[in-house]
Amino acid sequence: MIRLAGVRVEAGERTVLHHLDLEIDPASSPMTALIGPNGSGKSTLLRLLDGLVLANTGRITVDGLDPERELKALRRRVGFVFTDPDAQLVMPTAVEDVALSLRRTEVPRRHHDVRARELLAAAGLGALADRSVREASSGQRQLLALTSVLATGPRVLLCDEPTTLLDLRTARRVGDVLRDPPAPVAQVVVATHDLDLAGRADRVLWIEDGRVRGDGGPAEVVAAYRRAAG
Ligand SMILES: Nc1ncnc2c1ncn2[C@@H]1O[C@H](COP(=O)(O)OP(=O)(O)O)[C@@H](O)[C@H]1O
Ligand SMILES: [Mg+2]
Repeated sequence: MIRLAGVRVEAGERTVLHHLDLEIDPASSPMTALIGPNGSGKSTLLRLLDGLVLANTGRITVDGLDPERELKALRRRVGFVFTDPDAQLVMPTAVEDVALSLRRTEVPRRHHDVRARELLAAAGLGALADRSVREASSGQRQLLALTSVLATGPRVLLCDEPTTLLDLRTARRVGDVLRDPPAPVAQVVVATHDLDLAGRADRVLWIEDGRVRGDGGPAEVVAAYRRAAG
């Protein structure tokens, strides 16, 4: 469960998020999409949930944890996938990158290599395991970044425009993972301009000028957003 109560975020003179009251329940919405124009506050909202941005006022809890006071525990529960996979892929080969993530789990060290290969194969990246990450296509790197984050075993998965750099087929595969993520993920929140992806969510929040302008099922909210864009 994600809860925000009276959350405001300021950056200098500007208010980036205005008095946000929001509950996102994994039972009714395992996958939630944030849509809205550039600069509306989607990334800021995601970053609040991972403690990368702190609220000026208000209360936030993610899975019962306060990002400001319980950051270490929160980071064990929450996985964050950035738009640019190169911002988070740190190891030379794919199997090493996933194995690095497994160090944050209970999986015994001697099983990391085998487990990493299984996870890569499940993501359709088996052939990439021992190759240099830099040789992979941007779509493969995005899938790899997602696989590495999932390997840490998060309960909450946050993704910031994960399909922006991808062709249609790879974008759909990323969407398949977000729609049906592996355990223990209970809740996915994804910021996106990809309205096909948003259309697959259970709930869509349309954010504009730091406020929630639409909130509901994907068909209704995406249609209203399209109409407003003209
Ligand atoms: N660290 C920061 N310092 C100053 N302004 C920021 C900072 N982060 C975000 N902003 C501003 O906050 C607004 C919302 O940004 P963002 O959350 O990235 O929007 P979105 O992801 O919807 O495009 C933008 O106007 C942006 O310029
Ligand atoms: Mg953004």
